[in-house]
Amino acid sequence: MVPRVKGTQDFLDLSLYNFVIDRIKKHLQRYHFTEIATPILEAVDLFNRSLGLYTEVVTKEMFIIATADEEEPICLRPEGTASTVRAFIEHQIQSPWKVFSYGPMFRYERPQKGRYRQFHQVNIEIIGAKSIAQDVQLIKMLDRFFHEELVLNNYALLLNFLGCFDDRKTYQLLLKDFLEGPIEGELCSMCLDRKERNIMRIFDCKNPLCQKIYKNAPTIVDNLCKPCEKEWQQLQEQLSLLSISYAYQPTLVRGLDYYNKTVFEFVSKNLGAQNAFCGGGRYDQLVGQLGGKEDQPSLGAAIGLERLLLLLEPFKDQLPLEKLPALQVIMPLTSSQHSLALLLADDLQAQHLCVDILLAGDSLKSMMRKANKMGATYALILGEEEQKTRTVTIKNMTTGHEERVAQIDTASFVKK
Ligand code: HAM
Repeated sequence: MVPRVKGTQDFLDLSLYNFVIDRIKKHLQRYHFTEIATPILEAVDLFNRSLGLYTEVVTKEMFIIATADEEEPICLRPEGTASTVRAFIEHQIQSPWKVFSYGPMFRYERPQKGRYRQFHQVNIEIIGAKSIAQDVQLIKMLDRFFHEELVLNNYALLLNFLGCFDDRKTYQLLLKDFLEGPIEGELCSMCLDRKERNIMRIFDCKNPLCQKIYKNAPTIVDNLCKPCEKEWQQLQEQLSLLSISYAYQPTLVRGLDYYNKTVFEFVSKNLGAQNAFCGGGRYDQLVGQLGGKEDQPSLGAAIGLERLLLLLEPFKDQLPLEKLPALQVIMPLTSSQHSLALLLADDLQAQHLCVDILLAGDSLKSMMRKANKMGATYALILGEEEQKTRTVTIKNMTTGHEERVAQIDTASFVKK
């Protein structure tokens, strides 16, 4: 047996997955988003230029595919934002562009509960949206989806504000001063390394001692320029106006380099260590960075479907999942009735009924057992007698009641 690749999953029951996809599509359409799909294969350079050369995703987690020497290196996409921005530029689309897509993403991470090498995201982007009120609307849309559509309560919204790129530069110097102060000797080797390469990433450190030290680190919101400070205030006021509860988290910097201003994550304690099931924020310079003619202030978020499904699984029975259509099982008693069974099935399927035929030559008793397991509504029995009289014996699988009906009336009988 060749087992599945490490960090991947087989979905053997898609009912919950399809329910979430169906609901989010309808929800997003109500907020005027259009569905798009971009390729799973993209140029490696797209992610080098967008996510940041020193981010974990780019340095350690890319699934790069071997290509001929003269060809551009390609990879399996690790996320959807860069691809959406690439499509926006490549097709010279007018802003604002409000789009979503969903599908598999690939990151070579150490697999654990809620963390996979192939996982699925719903990716939502608004390209060309300067007002900070858009951030509020995006967050409200997500919160409403989780709370009202999926009836989730066990989660929190974490929020931070990274300011503009100038604020970030100033802040990085402040942070460096702090890290090179008296506490420097207490930092772990990874934080010392991050201090040199990608300083804001120090906040992702899991070492409890480092985390304790960072509680006293300068915060970026205390060091914003005047316009950014105003936007940070406006963001908080408008979130409250729309009754969105959030927790300000000064160490939330997100793992990708393109963010500025608003960053947020929806997290749940029920998920364990990998607690974020949705993350996003603003990326005002990415369009310019990837070759767009002019900068387009933009924002977006991605929902991690596996983590969302983990949260929903315990409440699955309370959700209005799509019911399977009623199943009718045809039972030819001998092979002489197989052709008749095919014809009857074909007639019922043409009338959009869900039908299966048992053709393995089992006894009636064993066919009944099988039909029961399959959850059949009716068993449609075809024997010699039924064949001669152009009838079918219909057994109600719940009550056990049997009735002989003309073959021509089968569809109307089972539809009743
Ligand atoms: P991200 O935070 O890297 O952001 O991923 C978003 C979500 O995808 C995470 O919160 C998590 O639920 C899920 N996720 C990430 N990695 C894994 C994994 N290895 N296994 C399972 N689930 C995972 C982005 O990808 C950004 N592109 C989001 C965004 C869109 N920002 C702006 N627009």
